[in-house]
Amino acid sequence: MSDGTILINGTPHPFEPGQTILEVAEAAGIAIPTLCHLKGTTPTGACRLCVVEVKGARNLLAACSTPAESTMEVTTDSPSVARSRKMTLELLLSSGNHDCLGIGTAKDARGLFDARAKTDGRSDHLCPSWGDCKLQDYALEYGATGTEYPRSTPTYPPELDNPLIIRDFSRCILCGRCVQACNEVQVNEAISHGYRGAESKIVALGDLPLSQSACVFCGECIQACPTGALVGKKSKGKWRPWDVTTIRTTCPYCGVGCQQTLHVKEGRIVKVTGDKEGLPNKGRLCVKGRFGYDFIYSEERLTTPLIRGNGELREASWDEALDLVADKLKTIMDESGPDAVAGVSCARSINEDSYQMQKLFRAVFKTNNIDHCART
Ligand code: SF4
Ligand code: SF4
Ligand code: SF4
Ligand code: FES
Repeated sequence: MSDGTILINGTPHPFEPGQTILEVAEAAGIAIPTLCHLKGTTPTGACRLCVVEVKGARNLLAACSTPAESTMEVTTDSPSVARSRKMTLELLLSSGNHDCLGIGTAKDARGLFDARAKTDGRSDHLCPSWGDCKLQDYALEYGATGTEYPRSTPTYPPELDNPLIIRDFSRCILCGRCVQACNEVQVNEAISHGYRGAESKIVALGDLPLSQSACVFCGECIQACPTGALVGKKSKGKWRPWDVTTIRTTCPYCGVGCQQTLHVKEGRIVKVTGDKEGLPNKGRLCVKGRFGYDFIYSEERLTTPLIRGNGELREASWDEALDLVADKLKTIMDESGPDAVAGVSCARSINEDSYQMQKLFRAVFKTNNIDHCART
């Protein structure tokens, strides 16, 4: 039941108790830029990009952390709001190695940007998130160039010591979304805010490399990061948004059935992300679902059944392999009874297949010798 209405840009909008201005605006289709806000987690109000004018308030208020109240009059887009957002962006750009702009602030900057990235997009010196960065998008939208304030020198070198995640602290804006994703979404509690002032840094277990911390390499923090500060090592430099198609699918690894998005370039998967709208995972993935996609291109992958004869494995057709298995099972059960056979169903198969496997053993073979390798 609605608690009341607030006026947003002159139009009344109903809200539920506890909803923030941002949530009411989003439900009404009114765009407010955000960097630190991570849906479903506790608002931190860290970046100040989502500021709006509220009539009677002394300062601009952060829409993501200000609860809606009856009779509030909110303006989401005014000259002072735009000025504040631009200044916030300039400060963020100056606080690290954000060298992707520098082509002016004309309305067609994005086009120029894309053209340059297309010809230059694989060079190592380009930020791996170029074209896939919220900070960059908003800088272009608000005309921030990163030249307004002196640029600070990066304090910490990048962390490259594990096979899956690159942490580039020079591109971290300390928005804290990775911390929220790790602690509140995945509940792994591997990272937190560390140090103070100019030394501030996202740290893992007293500032150890991720590989020596409680990190389980689920990659949720990469998905949450709005900049190039967290990047998947396998996908780095292999794609830009304009050269991939996305395909929603079900993770092949276990029976949970997480929904994921494959980013496919020229017929090859270059990256996997969780589908935020898909159930049951709502965007979350584990290490296997997010990073375990490249096995399908392994030259060692078996693509046909193998039958052992005279100590050697030879390739066989599926019909031949299945007939052989069926014959052997029949022979064993004829000679020694149904309890002489057992089945272990694969945790990577879908639930329906595992169900059919136990039906085959219990209802057809008449044995309860059936198990599932997830238990091991
Ligand atoms: S992190 Fe974003 S803003 Fe910074 S250099 Fe990379 S693309 Fe540009
Ligand atoms: S990979 Fe997962 S566990 Fe590790 S820091 Fe990121 S969110 Fe936390
Ligand atoms: S690593 Fe990314 S998500 Fe984490 S604080 Fe830095 S910019 Fe934000
Ligand atoms: S999105 Fe509201 S303060 Fe960052």
